[in-house]
Amino acid sequence: MKTTLSVIKADIGSIGGHLRPSESLMEAVREYIEANKGKMVIDYRISNTGDDIAILFSHREGVGNSALHELAWDAFVAGTAQAKKEGLYGAGQDLLKDSFSGNIKGLGPAVAEMEFEERENEPFIFFAADKTDPGAYNLPLYLAFTDPMHCSGLILSPKMSDGFKFVIMDVEYTEADRYIELNAPEEIYDIAALLRDNERFVVSKIYSRDSGEQAVAASTTRLHNIAGKYIGKDDPVMLVRVQGSFPAAGEILSPYNIGHYVAGFMRGSHTGPLMPVKTGCGISFFDGPPIVTATAFCVQNGILTEPVDCFDHPYWDHVRTEVARKATELRRQGFSGAAMLPYSELEYGGIVEKMKKLDDKFKI
Ligand code: F6R
Ligand code: MG
Ligand code: MG
Repeated sequence: MKTTLSVIKADIGSIGGHLRPSESLMEAVREYIEANKGKMVIDYRISNTGDDIAILFSHREGVGNSALHELAWDAFVAGTAQAKKEGLYGAGQDLLKDSFSGNIKGLGPAVAEMEFEERENEPFIFFAADKTDPGAYNLPLYLAFTDPMHCSGLILSPKMSDGFKFVIMDVEYTEADRYIELNAPEEIYDIAALLRDNERFVVSKIYSRDSGEQAVAASTTRLHNIAGKYIGKDDPVMLVRVQGSFPAAGEILSPYNIGHYVAGFMRGSHTGPLMPVKTGCGISFFDGPPIVTATAFCVQNGILTEPVDCFDHPYWDHVRTEVARKATELRRQGFSGAAMLPYSELEYGGIVEKMKKLDDKFKI
């Protein structure tokens, strides 16, 4: 029987601005799921990454299941009531529609789902990032699945020598899913040519070419593109199955020691390095820096083990210091050049209005 993992996350309010949800808000979401999970949900975990709350479900209903999406939506609605009661900032901010309609995608929350036949042992890692957008996973995925500098299994393991198939979404196209399938290693230059543009092309799935099995499912929605105006960055979630014919857990984590620069940070309008942090970490410096959490599990007959917090290890303390240095360095140039995102990515619309006014004052 197949197992489905679904992670659905939303920002429904936090303390002190966009920093971290309250304990009681997390508890309200948990209570709702506990009381309403019925027979559909086999197991679940609730966590926060910055101001976002993620619900990780395991179940047997397949991807895009309306009843499961509705359960998550209703849990976020219940959480929003609690957030309002406490006076949390931005209560219900990611619930963009008044009511649920079939599929939670496009309604505000981010979704990553994968259905598979469980292997004898089924280890996987759940990633969540805050103050950034789905393109933040492009480089780490490219490196973990195509580059032996990070994934030694590509040269050491016969199960990986066939490489991986990437499914890449054009997130600027909003009428439907517009995607391309490319094979690594033969087409890595084409993959790189697309993935360099984090704001337009985003990895949505990766498959092993040896087993045909799906390794990765990532959220790709860019509400900015759908709504055409500021509605915050789409802090992305991702599921990655590891080991065997997939990269090892440590190979998947390896590229996060770069602290590569991503879009997001203050007002969703700046460039900042992605800092690997412990689950439950809040947001601080300059409403950032952009953060990513990684939580590992095994799943058996749909039952999840206790979580292992992958970035809660002395090695990553060293990385965090380096990433903080990168953040400080770029912040030193404030609004100038590379520190702020290009015109098309600036949130809030303030610059657009300013430019219009200034345009009239220009003389020739
Ligand atoms: C929110 C975010 C923050 C806000 C900033 C201003 O995810 O990235 O940097 O954009 O705190 O927030 P508002 O507009 O709510 O006052
Ligand atoms: Mg937020
Ligand atoms: Mg957020």
